[in-house]
Amino acid sequence: MEVNEIGLKDKPVIELVDHINILLANYQIHYQKVRGCHWNVRGHNFFDLHIKFEELYNNAQTTIDELAERVLTLGKSPYSTYADYIKVSSIKEIKTEGLAAEKMVEAVLDDFQKLIEIEREVIKNATENAGDEGTADIIIGFLKFKEKTSWMLRAWDSKQ
Ligand SMILES: [Fe+2]
Repeated sequence: MEVNEIGLKDKPVIELVDHINILLANYQIHYQKVRGCHWNVRGHNFFDLHIKFEELYNNAQTTIDELAERVLTLGKSPYSTYADYIKVSSIKEIKTEGLAAEKMVEAVLDDFQKLIEIEREVIKNATENAGDEGTADIIIGFLKFKEKTSWMLRAWDSKQ
């Protein structure tokens, strides 16, 4: 089997890169959803949530850039159009205008759950199939952030 310039086997890495691209697409849909929440949140929690959503979409933006650059590091191009994101993402867009603050937090928690699920699969794929600890290490950081933030969002919304 052919080995690329960073010592990874070509075939499993190509499959892994496609998998990272799917994670990237899901993240982009999530990112825009959180921006919508930031813009459209209303009510007594406005100041808290307006700032929290901004923190979360800024974090998502940094994560997306790292995923895209990992795809490039592994030798392929990241998806870069919303047409592709919408086509491959299992996270779906929602309208945030008029959505209650609690529903926004629930939507973010649902997205986190899906992203964590995909990330666990990518980590497994990276370590077990591609021998790519670098990708696993990058994604574990993203996973831990969402695990901790999920706890905080659930604590905010005590019904969760
Ligand atoms: Fe803003």
